[in-house]
Amino acid sequence: MRLLRSAAALAVAAGVAHASVFADSFTQSQYGFTLQAIYDSDAGHTNFTLHTLNSGQAVGWMGIGTGEQMAGSNMMVGWVNTDNTVVISQRTTAGEIMPTTKNIKAQRFTVDKTLSKTQSSGTTFAWSQPGFPEAGGNMQMVNMIWAVNPSDAPATADTSATIYKHASRGFITLDLTKPYTGGAITASDASSGAPKASRTMSMRNSIIIAHMVLSIVAWLILMPAGIFIARFGRTAFTWLPKHRIVQTVSIAFILIAMGLGFAIVKSEGGVDFSQRHHKLGFVLAMLAVFQGLLGQFGHMLWNAKRIRVQNYLHIIIGIVLFGLAPWNMALGFDLWVPWYPSVAGKYVCIAWAALLGVVYICGLALLPREFKTDRKAQELRAAIRIDSNDDVGGQHDRKA
Ligand SMILES: *[C@@H]1O[C@H](CO)[C@@H](O)[C@H](O)[C@H]1NC(C)=O
Repeated sequence: MRLLRSAAALAVAAGVAHASVFADSFTQSQYGFTLQAIYDSDAGHTNFTLHTLNSGQAVGWMGIGTGEQMAGSNMMVGWVNTDNTVVISQRTTAGEIMPTTKNIKAQRFTVDKTLSKTQSSGTTFAWSQPGFPEAGGNMQMVNMIWAVNPSDAPATADTSATIYKHASRGFITLDLTKPYTGGAITASDASSGAPKASRTMSMRNSIIIAHMVLSIVAWLILMPAGIFIARFGRTAFTWLPKHRIVQTVSIAFILIAMGLGFAIVKSEGGVDFSQRHHKLGFVLAMLAVFQGLLGQFGHMLWNAKRIRVQNYLHIIIGIVLFGLAPWNMALGFDLWVPWYPSVAGKYVCIAWAALLGVVYICGLALLPREFKTDRKAQELRAAIRIDSNDDVGGQHDRKA
């Protein structure tokens, strides 16, 4: 039967001088894994073995996919269950979202259950993919992608289990024109891990850029400006109306950026907001809205009842927001595949935020001067019986 099929395949591949078996391998030293591919052009399938030096749940999850990007990739996602059995699932995704076992267009692969196992020397995932690489493609440069998350091992044998975003990912180029006659498979020059960025101004990338610019302006320029008006403006000018208008604009920007974020995920064909960047971004946007309401409410409560505890909460939430936003930006930069923005982008954002943080802390040195001004103002008010408001920060009017 096997012979017959091979003969038929040979007849179909009449143009090929001699049908044969080819192999290449790829090693990723940082995460300690090797992928071997043995391509049988007769049978039209490729046998993959992915070997990692990690064992058991320390493997986390590992993924190998066809092509150059997540969208449309035919993937093997594997992990080791708590009972030390190896779980291998075939998955795909429409974008930069969690691959699932649904809507797989590629042919089903078969898992080699004998080879796939975990032991103290490491773990092997073995599967055979029919129909890959596609006939007629460039067999010298067969593109694949890899992803790992060593700290997220699903504790289940359910192949459709939720996995969390990769900790790292990269590219593989295999040369499947190297004849294989058994024995060790050496890596070709082609199987390098250099990322290939694709930076076309597609609709998706345009929306991502708008999302990024609005977020940066809101979180790293307007919001700190509003905070600084409140911090430094106390001793200089009437700060509250200015603080309020700047922060209102920044919240508006944040909400538009969030809307664009939803649009980006939707354009990737998913309703899957599984990435930490999505969740944290949503929480930060909602917290920013709450923060705005709290500021206004706190101001009114102070005016009416001279209660100021909510205003301290307003300050604390402001600091938390400002601390978390740069982190979420860094997560966003990491998600932008296959643009692959330079890491400089996220470090500039973080450094800028850190600088503003230092300035803010230095601003606290102004407190003693404020208290002094406040005391003088109080004496003055006591003399001419005027009342003060605008206590959002708490330090300005020290009257009980
Ligand atoms: C590939 O795997 C299949 C199924 O496990 C096996 O029958 C076949 O001999 C393997 N081919 C090569 C070239 O190793």
